[in-house]
Amino acid sequence: MRALDVLCPQVHGPDAKRPPYLNDDVELVRGDIRDRASVERALERVSFVVHLTALVGVGQSMYQIADYTSVNNEGTAILLECLLKKPIKKLVVASSMSIYGEGLYETANGKVVERASRSIEQLRRHEWEVCTREGESLRPLPTPEWKTPNLASIYALSKFDQEQLCLITGRAYNIPAVALRFFNVYGPHQALSNPYTGVLAIFASRLLNNQPPVIFEDGNQIRDFVSVYDIARACRLAIQKEVSGIAVNIGSADPHTIKEIAELAADALNTPLEPEICGKFRVGDVRHCYPDLSLAREALGYAPRVTLRQGLLDLAAWLERETAPDHFREMQVELAGRGLLG
Ligand SMILES: NC(=O)c1ccc[n+]([C@@H]2O[C@H](COP(=O)([O-])OP(=O)(O)OC[C@H]3O[C@@H](n4cnc5c(N)ncnc54)[C@H](O)[C@@H]3O)[C@@H](O)[C@H]2O)c1
Repeated sequence: MRALDVLCPQVHGPDAKRPPYLNDDVELVRGDIRDRASVERALERVSFVVHLTALVGVGQSMYQIADYTSVNNEGTAILLECLLKKPIKKLVVASSMSIYGEGLYETANGKVVERASRSIEQLRRHEWEVCTREGESLRPLPTPEWKTPNLASIYALSKFDQEQLCLITGRAYNIPAVALRFFNVYGPHQALSNPYTGVLAIFASRLLNNQPPVIFEDGNQIRDFVSVYDIARACRLAIQKEVSGIAVNIGSADPHTIKEIAELAADALNTPLEPEICGKFRVGDVRHCYPDLSLAREALGYAPRVTLRQGLLDLAAWLERETAPDHFREMQVELAGRGLLG
């Protein structure tokens, strides 16, 4: 088994070396996905590729536009050109819930609404819920794969590009490809040094530094947190099953509000700190999005196994051995300075 990774300082820290948690059986090729020689070297004698490489900060993608487009879009294009010369049995690409923008909604009389959104003016008035243009409130529904993407950030655009680049090239050249649209992933070894991603890691870093988690809006926004162990199982299923050419949601089927998540994290870490609800908003954040997992069940035989309680205990057990830097304020200052915080 081989992994290609440049070991980005933002994710792995300065002077990063081979991560100690990486299984001994994994050969690490340290290189950039945009460097063809490194990619070709990583693909030698390989039959299956799981493409996870990306820059992953939604907020950061709105000002490091060239970097995000280069690593995510061009990096995927280079990987695909290398695969044309080196046929494999299966390509699995990590896509993201972020491509949906707002999730699926319905009106009080059951009409499904695909293109819901919130205006900046409404957010400035602290009217957080999604409504129709006429002001009728909408009820969130589980989001299925057929919902039309609504790309609200450069990151989301690049994830949709990654997914479609792989599926289109796969169809054209007979490379069986599956895109997995991950919802909010958490678990041991996730990046704690990156203040732009992973709300649970950000909450955990704050709690470990004896600071309350800070929640945007009113904390009632709904998300689906899925354990990295379930993500790994989904990747294996996507390799093993005879399916290709599809994009599939992967989540936990146990959606919660962000406020509940902050409280559960404080409980798991044994730090009884009430979350701070700051009433600010981040431009581009969605109100509610959680997955319909029917296709994952039918096409992959996927069923989440790790409960949120168990997943948080796994995360807490790992975090107790870590020093988690709290970069939350830096991130807030950076987003505010760029007008992306309301
Ligand atoms: N974590 C989530 O909640 C989540 C949700 C949806 C989708 N995803 C997707 O899952 C994948 C993994 O995400 P993650 O949360 O583990 O992020 P991560 O930042 O921890 O991992 C990304 C890895 O890519 C590497 N990398 C970055 N630029 C590179 C380059 N130019 N060349 C080679 N390697 C490079 C980084 O060093 C890092 O190890 C990404 O594609 C992400 O978009 C993650």
